[in-house]
Amino acid sequence: MSRLGSDNQAQGSSGEEAWIEVIQKMDLVYADLVHYQVELEEKNSALEEAQRFIESVQASMTDVLIVCDIQGRIQQANTALERITGRTARALLNHSFKELFAESSQVLVDGFADKIRSETVYDCEVNLISADGTPTPLAMNCSSRYDHEGRLVGMVLIGRPVGELRRAYEKLHATHKELKQAQEQLVHSEKMASLGRLVAGVAHELNNPISFVFGNMHALKRYGERITRYLDAIHAGVDGEALAAQRRELKIDHILSDIGSLIDGTLEGAERVSNIVQDLRRFSGNQQEDIKPFRLAPVVITAVDWVVKAARRKPEVRLEIPDELRAVGTKGLVHQILVNLVQNAIDVMEPMDDPRLVIRGWQDRDDVHIEVRDFGPGIPPADLMRVFDPFFTTKDVGKGTGLGLYISYGLANDQGGSLVASNHADGGAVFTLILRSV
Ligand SMILES: Nc1ncnc2c1ncn2[C@@H]1O[C@H](COP(=O)(O)OP(=O)(O)O)[C@@H](O)[C@H]1O
Ligand SMILES: [Mg+2]
Repeated sequence: MSRLGSDNQAQGSSGEEAWIEVIQKMDLVYADLVHYQVELEEKNSALEEAQRFIESVQASMTDVLIVCDIQGRIQQANTALERITGRTARALLNHSFKELFAESSQVLVDGFADKIRSETVYDCEVNLISADGTPTPLAMNCSSRYDHEGRLVGMVLIGRPVGELRRAYEKLHATHKELKQAQEQLVHSEKMASLGRLVAGVAHELNNPISFVFGNMHALKRYGERITRYLDAIHAGVDGEALAAQRRELKIDHILSDIGSLIDGTLEGAERVSNIVQDLRRFSGNQQEDIKPFRLAPVVITAVDWVVKAARRKPEVRLEIPDELRAVGTKGLVHQILVNLVQNAIDVMEPMDDPRLVIRGWQDRDDVHIEVRDFGPGIPPADLMRVFDPFFTTKDVGKGTGLGLYISYGLANDQGGSLVASNHADGGAVFTLILRSV
């Protein structure tokens, strides 16, 4: 009994152990299961997160995205494509991507599948059919897509809508062109206007030498006639007292002493005319001049002279430009700037009884300053910044274009200098042209 009992006991305890073992195993398996389940859920949520991330990126793309398989069937499309075509990505699934494009683009689109085997298609212009049936031009890039084993499985198309941008750009371009033309015309007409004003001064300037060249030529003609008469008398055999009388009567000795200076004077006049013509050529600015060192005094003097000569009421001018003062720039442009400044000063002093102008030049370290000061009313402080704006003028219609200072400012900059407006403490405006020194 006791054996049996002990046997039973032994049997009973081993059965129990087996059960315990099974239960423990089951516990382990269960724990594993729970572990896998947690892992799976974690992976799942990471996957969902990645999926959402990709979706949000695709949805925010302004470029169109189409992913196709090797047969050209759409596998994925983004929101930009849905918006343009008016078809949902789900509805497009498994349709041929070629359906999306207009007839005119079919040949190009047909070639994509072949082309991408050897190269990527860049910026190929194709027309997508929009929801309303009109074509939407896209700059399309197309490249091949490979799976993780490197097999070609399809292609990816990315297209940027260019129509809107291009239309806006073309419009901008056209407007810009028109504006540029208008500006060139205005600059040209201002130049013509100041040329016109200068012509009066130049005419005056030319008149002087030309009139004394004329006078001299007339005198020379008379002299020539008398000398001919005298020579005729010699050839006719007149001599002695009769010839001497003729010589006195024809004033041959006076002619001989005068003729040299007459010719010199005529030459000088001709030279003066030629110099004026050269100055004029420079002003017309047809030939490009280099930026180089030059003496300021002669340029300033000619510019001031020309304007002052043409002025109805001539101001008293004080010029203080040291003879040796030199600057780096373009003579013609400096001339043009000074003409504009002096003209403005004369305009503003027109109602005054005693118009005065002081033009000074000096060197300040690496700069050369040329200051044009008038004794007019000056510039209202609020206008000091505006006088250089194009079309800013306080003159009557037809009198001012408002471009003189604008152009002068640009010309100063063109030669590495600057132009500054200010008022003098004792009244009147001061314009300072600053150039680089030699
Ligand atoms: N010396 C000056 N004194 C006072 N105002 C001036 C002077 N120079 C220019 N201005 C002002 O600047 C404006 C613009 O000058 P500018 O560009 O030469 O054009 P415009 O002479 O055709 O008016 C003038 O209308 C005038 O109001
Ligand atoms: Mg002016």
